[in-house]
This record gives sequence, structure tokens and C-alpha cells, in this order.
Amino acid sequence: MNIPKKADVIDVGCRDGFQLEKEFIPTEDKISIVKGLARLGFKKIEATSFVSPKAVPQMQDSKEVIEAVKGIDGVVFSALVPNLKGAERALSAGVGELNIVFSASETHNMKNLHMSVMDSLKNAEEIIALAGKISVNVTVATSFGCPFEGRVSESQVISLAEKVLSLGASGITFADTTGMANPIQVYRMMKAFVEKHLDLAVTLHFHNTRNMGLANIVAGLQAGVASFDASLGGLGGCPFAPGATGNVPTEDVVHMLHEMGVETGIDLGGLIDLGKYLEKLIGRSLPGQILKAGKSTDLYPCS
Ligand code: COA
Ligand code: ZN
Repeated sequence: MNIPKKADVIDVGCRDGFQLEKEFIPTEDKISIVKGLARLGFKKIEATSFVSPKAVPQMQDSKEVIEAVKGIDGVVFSALVPNLKGAERALSAGVGELNIVFSASETHNMKNLHMSVMDSLKNAEEIIALAGKISVNVTVATSFGCPFEGRVSESQVISLAEKVLSLGASGITFADTTGMANPIQVYRMMKAFVEKHLDLAVTLHFHNTRNMGLANIVAGLQAGVASFDASLGGLGGCPFAPGATGNVPTEDVVHMLHEMGVETGIDLGGLIDLGKYLEKLIGRSLPGQILKAGKSTDLYPCS
């Protein structure tokens, strides 16, 4: 199989995971998870989001989280921002990267951000200008399907991505917000895009809502993508999409990549321990399979 020999995994659980938790997670617990991840070899961690605390009260302590981790060397701590106000707050807290989000489908963008896609594009332009030397990634949500509109035109998604690049974004993430993507679709959409943008940081963001997440990652790898978002334990989902569930679990993704000979630089044993610690923190078991089954190289006595 012709796939990259190395891939980056970005943990987004402290944003995409925590945002769906009803009970407030104490700030020091959030910080302990971000710091725990930072010790495991991730190059980038999405640590929080600067959204309205009225809309997502869980994210009200984003400034404190970023301020507590921003000095750690060797890791870029990014934050999701929905609008200019979020970008201003994130930059003043000292984020390493802004991750602007908006959706490819009008209905989801309106529900999530109360804006048209065109207004989100204008916002992105202003945010990129404001960010200066701080890099700006753009996440295009509902890239592979929308829970309100169904299939989203593939050419519409790709042309949105092209517009975003022309505004000066340093990277682009195609997000499958509610687990609607399938491997053939992922391969078809990514192959042409990656070949056209060889030097661009392209990331895929899959939710495992319909259990297609890992298969979609393999399809992405085959198309030449070498960066994937994932969430510790598989925690999470979009609060503004019905039936949304967590991302592909980070430890399942790292385990699969290592088993396939794809290097990530991430300490899998440490990740499993941290996933178990997260289960204790939130008081329930998480969807990650490797947390339950262990690595496939773990052997048992036969007596
Ligand atoms: N950070 C902090 N406060 C913000 C903000 C941000 N990024 N964006 C807006 N606000 C505040 C405004 O200051 C205003 O406060 P006020 O009522 O005290 O004056 C209030 O929110 C409403 O502002 P408005 O510009 O009318 O925005 P809105 O109500 O249309 O909502 C959103 C703006 C969409 C940014 C907000 O609802 C939001 O943050 N939603 C969460 C999106 C999200 O996290 N989705 C999941 C991840 S993809
Ligand atoms: Zn997501």
C-alpha cells in the first residue's frame, strides 16, 4: 500500500471533547490533560476554543488554559475560533495557532455560528490579517455531509478550500462533523486536492459516529494526507449538530498507524495511561477500543 511513512496526529479532545461535557471540568483538570498530552510527543494540540461562554459555558476558561501551557517547548497549542472576537481573545492569551472554523453547508453554519458561509469567509480574511505572524488553520466543517442538508457538493467544498487558501491560511482541515464520510468519498476528494497542493498542511478530522473513522483515515493516507485530528478516548462532538458523537480516539489512531509502520513520534503507552486518567476525571468509560483491549502486541499467559 502506498502511504506516507510518517503522520502527525493532533489531539483535539480538550476542545472537541470537552465542549460536549455538560458538567464543568475544573480548569486545573483541563490543564493537567493538556500538559499530559504535551509530554507524549504531539507537535500540535488543540487545547481549547475561544467561543461565547454563553453558548458553550465549558469553554469559559480558555484564557487560563492557554496561559498555563503556552510556555511548553516543542508543542504548538492551537485554539478554535468562530469569529473575530474569539481570535482577538485567543491572540491576547498567547495561542500558538488559530483554528478558524466554519461549515461548508449554510444550515450548519447558521446553527453553529449564526452566520452565512460568505460572512464566515469575510471573517476569516479579517482574522488572518489580524493574526500577523501567528499561523492560521481553517477547518471546513460538514465537508463530507451535513446533518441538516445531507450530502454537500464536493466541488463546493473544494472551491471553499481554495478560497480559504487564497486568503492566506497556512493549513486546512476537512472535518466530518457528524461521521457521514466514507472511505471512497474521502479518497476521491483528497487525492486531487493533495496532488494540487503538495506543500500545504492538509488535515482530516473524522468523527466516529458511524464507525467509519479509522477506515476513512486509511483512505486519507492512501490519498497522501499525513495529518489527522483525533480525541483522547474518543470523547466529544459538536454541540450544535444533532446526534453528534466523539472523534476517532487518538490512541486507536496512533495504535493503527504504528501497526501499519507509520511513525507518529507519539508515546502510545503514555497515551493509554492518560486516556484511563481522563476516564477517571469524567467518571465514565470512553469509546476508545485500545483503552479496553490494550495494544495488539500485548500478550497474555496461555496457562
Ligand atoms: N468569545 C466570547 N464572547 C463572544 C464571542 C467569542 N468568540 N462571540 C460572541 N461573543 C459574545 C458577544 O460579545 C455577545 O455578548 P453580550 O451578550 O454580553 O454582548 C454575545 O456573545 C452575542 O454576540 P453576537 O455577536 O450576537 O453573537 P451570536 O449570538 O450570533 O453568537 C457565536 C456568536 C456563534 C460565536 C457564539 O454563539 C458561539 O461562540 N457559539 C459556539 C460555537 C461553537 O463552539 N461550536 C462548536 C465548535 S465547532
Ligand atoms: Zn469535530
